[in-house]
Amino acid sequence: MLILLLVIFCTGFTGDRSPDDPARQKIRFDLDWKFARGDFPAASEKDFDDSQWQHLDIPHDWAILDTFSKDNPTGRPGGFASGGVGWYRKNFTLSRRDASSKISIEFGGVYENSEVWINGHYLGKRPFGYISFHYDLTPHLDFQGENIVAVRVDNSKQPSARWYTGCGIYRHVWLVKTGKLHVSRHGVYATTPFISEDSAVVSIRTTVENDFDEEKQFNLANELYSPDNVLLERIGTSAVLPGKEILEIDQNLTVPEPALWSPDHPTLYQLKTSIVSKKNTYDEIETNIGIRYFTFSADSGFTLNGESMKFQGVNNHSDLGALGAALNDRVLQRRLEILKEMGCNAIRTAHNPPCEELLDMCDSMGFMVMDEAFDEWLESWPFGGVKKPEGKAKYGYHLHFNEWAEKDLTELIRRDRNHPSIILWSVGNEIPDACFEIGTERLKKLMEVVRKEDPTRPVTCGITHMHLANESGFASQLDVTGYNGGGGSCFMYEKDHITYPDRIFIATEVPHSFQTRGTYRTHSWYRGQNPLGGIMKVPNLTEKEVFTDVPKYYSSSFDNAMVRIGARDSWRRTRDFPFMCGEFRWTGFDYLGETMFGWPAKFWNFGIIDMCGFPKDTYYFYQSQWTEEPMVHILPHWNWPGKEGIEIPVVAYSNCESVELFLNGKSLGEKEMGDKMDLVWQVPYEPGVMVATGKREGKTVCKKELVTAGSPAWIQLLADRKTITAGRQEVVHVEVNIEDKENNFVPDASNRLHFKVVGEAEIIAVDNGDPINEESYGSSARKAFNGKCLVILKSTGKAGEITLLAQSDGLETEEVTILSIE
Ligand code: GAL
Repeated sequence: MLILLLVIFCTGFTGDRSPDDPARQKIRFDLDWKFARGDFPAASEKDFDDSQWQHLDIPHDWAILDTFSKDNPTGRPGGFASGGVGWYRKNFTLSRRDASSKISIEFGGVYENSEVWINGHYLGKRPFGYISFHYDLTPHLDFQGENIVAVRVDNSKQPSARWYTGCGIYRHVWLVKTGKLHVSRHGVYATTPFISEDSAVVSIRTTVENDFDEEKQFNLANELYSPDNVLLERIGTSAVLPGKEILEIDQNLTVPEPALWSPDHPTLYQLKTSIVSKKNTYDEIETNIGIRYFTFSADSGFTLNGESMKFQGVNNHSDLGALGAALNDRVLQRRLEILKEMGCNAIRTAHNPPCEELLDMCDSMGFMVMDEAFDEWLESWPFGGVKKPEGKAKYGYHLHFNEWAEKDLTELIRRDRNHPSIILWSVGNEIPDACFEIGTERLKKLMEVVRKEDPTRPVTCGITHMHLANESGFASQLDVTGYNGGGGSCFMYEKDHITYPDRIFIATEVPHSFQTRGTYRTHSWYRGQNPLGGIMKVPNLTEKEVFTDVPKYYSSSFDNAMVRIGARDSWRRTRDFPFMCGEFRWTGFDYLGETMFGWPAKFWNFGIIDMCGFPKDTYYFYQSQWTEEPMVHILPHWNWPGKEGIEIPVVAYSNCESVELFLNGKSLGEKEMGDKMDLVWQVPYEPGVMVATGKREGKTVCKKELVTAGSPAWIQLLADRKTITAGRQEVVHVEVNIEDKENNFVPDASNRLHFKVVGEAEIIAVDNGDPINEESYGSSARKAFNGKCLVILKSTGKAGEITLLAQSDGLETEEVTILSIE
């Protein structure tokens, strides 16, 4: 790399852009691909005949609409999904003008072992299914005829992970065009080394590449725009760069009275970087910048912008419910909206690099992120006397670690380091290498990679069996030590805080608790144990089981089904230890795979939000702890025919000072929250209206009502958007509720529903959140599960009306209309 003497002009350079030389264009390359299952080696060739292949848009996951079966190779870890090999091809044309451009293809993620060809030229292989990558297409393109990009995807060796991964090009693809003098990929790196109330310094390191043979003289300009798009400052640097050379240029900008980024105020500035030479704008790129500072302390935990704060976080896998792995931006955004409402302020990208869209949304919606790289390195667990050479998943990342870990980690950090939402880099989750001294050496190397690419954030790793990672030195090597629950690590905070006084603590994965939406048992069970053998006694809940048995695949929603510790006790510990920086629960949403009890369950019930995005009761527990807006929630539902006179525990979660409970107009008493995390009344069951009122300073400030519902009478359809812009990736979520004739929700309804769409959309997924539902996510019929299901509609791309009709025997047919506009 050549370091040249630079001349800095703080006022501007005024080169006009020539219409003939394109600046950067990042073109979505998602639509109109050809796809076939199976292996077709000749499909890498340009003239291969793909006319019989399926026509589809990506992001795409072939496994989600495949048959799930107990004989499928992914087994319990993968939720009994299929795997296999698939090919994608896409043709495209370019204009002659493009011949002066540098053109590359960017993949957000392909699961997994992708190989890519352009016009029959092999571009390369990328084993890791969660990493983004790119190829330079420039030397192989045809600017007069057709071009063909071909992608082979191989997820045939199973299990390749410990969860459902999906198969295919499941994230977005882009074609990127710049001039041949351009900013390198991920070549803008902005940091904020100085922040005060009066001003902040934004330091920008831009890497410029000259792909011409000859030397170029140019001006690199960086402009900073305020959140309301006012130009604050501009800096231009003139430089000369010989042909085929790369140059790093450092510039500083000052922001007066900076508005700081935080989860409550996710303020974003915009940086515009351009390269201009002889009136040609060769490249132009925009980057969102957030100005914030933070500290981690071994005594007092975490502060953001000088204020003490806990991570109120969730772990989420990358799959999106009934869409499987296939990314859809709106589906992802809705999920974040649901978490935001709960008061969640942080997300851990369990256990792999996320898509960029998630990070953009976290920047603009206000979530802090623990950006995680790997679930395994090289070793497997040393338990049981035998050390198997299998990593964690037989065909998992341990097969690629030696060759790829540094490259993948570098790609992750360079891609993501400008996102203000990212506070922590995580180099792994429950890495067995942590049990050995060699693991500490590997950790040091990975930490060096991180520091080289971004020294501004600390490095963590989620650790299980902490006593082993303490012994090996692994845990103390980290900047921030991540406590998962495993091996009782979540009970070691106090002791370890004394033994390692310099250690910074964060609960990376606690608690692991289960709940199935709408399912209640007073006696629940621990992991796989039979309820009779392993009763979890929950204080204040009755000693006698009052509810009927449920299939073993379902878990009780009283926060009494857990591994080691429930939501309430875990959060109390996190909240009350001043040194504890926060907690990421396992998990926010139900995710496919890791099914405990096996077929026909495709997943377990860790989420506090179900696969459809419907909150379970524990969601409201967190809301009561993490939000200020008055709320009260009560459980269970109030439809218990046959239980008349039997005492049912009614639990309230609230952020009010007290809660009063009423049944059929009669007060059952007011209880003070004090330092309690829930309130419990034992209520002899009688049908009717149960009301909880939350009070502050003696005044009722919120209310929750549960009504014993009659028989199902009609289908309520609630669309999350009434108008959408026509576009083939635009979706509408329709929440389906079974109601009685008085418009009361029927919490145990299981009516079979049939859906039909008329107009400019198609049904792309139907789900009900039931872990043992065996119907395809692509079918247009579903039984309601505990009163609810979800339909996801996708625009055809054309403007017009979209009407969803729902029909069920004995219920009134219902419809909802959405307008799709240009
Ligand atoms: C943890 C692991 C998670 C998930 C969870 C299930 O040990 O890190 O990925 O497997 O257990 O209990």
